[in-house]
Amino acid sequence: MSYWNQFLWVIFPYMMIAITIIGHVYRYSTDQMSWTSRSSEFLEKKSLRWGSLLFHYGIIFVFFGHVLGLLIPESFITNSIGINNEVYHQVAISFGGVAGIATVVGIFILLFRRYGDKRISKTSSFGDKFIVILLFLLIGFGIYNTLYYNLAVGDFNYRLSISPWVRSLFIFSPNPSLMANVPITYKIHVILAFLTFGVWPFTRLVHIWSIPIAYIKRSHIIYRRRCGEVKSNI
Ligand code: HEM
Repeated sequence: MSYWNQFLWVIFPYMMIAITIIGHVYRYSTDQMSWTSRSSEFLEKKSLRWGSLLFHYGIIFVFFGHVLGLLIPESFITNSIGINNEVYHQVAISFGGVAGIATVVGIFILLFRRYGDKRISKTSSFGDKFIVILLFLLIGFGIYNTLYYNLAVGDFNYRLSISPWVRSLFIFSPNPSLMANVPITYKIHVILAFLTFGVWPFTRLVHIWSIPIAYIKRSHIIYRRRCGEVKSNI
């Protein structure tokens, strides 16, 4: 196993995961005021609505697709649930394809907006601009692999190589040889994914951890007039 293989498929992923954990803890404990999505809604609303909606809904489905495809062994799905590989593959490509297209269209609109709208471009930080390009490339390679590679170049069953490699990282017994024969566009997707994990705590992506779940449980805010106040028509 060459040095590069050791670096890319063992050292680099662990390094990025360590940076993401330490980076999040550091940022949260030293700079909570900047822990935000840095919304630019008041500068431009129309394309944000479409871009953000497509991107966020798409990415939720893509996330669950990744959990299923990467973390659950193929043998479990085939033997215990009884779904054969061909059916799984077709369903994964259809659902993954639709979710991936929504995500890629969404991120394209957001990218175009970030660089194309003068006011947004001028008020964006380096991190804002960098992360949108990184996500665009990451998602672009993902959808290329799911749709173009699988349908036009040749079938590639990542559940026999990338998935066990990801799981080998999880159990701290990395097996880089599993990545040796993976097509280059899949390798680029995985490298970009870990790079994204590494820069995550230093960008607006931190807002992912602040989903307002408490909103679902909290009681309504009740607005009422102060005692004796004159009733207005508003
Ligand atoms: C450890 C990290 C990751 C690994 C190992 C990984 C691996 C993969 C694999 C194997 C595919 C499927 C290709 C196929 O269907 O043949 C894929 C597709 C895709 N990935 Fe990732 N990925 C990772 C992280 C991410 C992240 C962080 C994003 C987005 C922010 C992302 C976005 C996508 C998209 C949009 C697709 C295409 C649609 C789909 O199949 O869901 N991936 N990825």
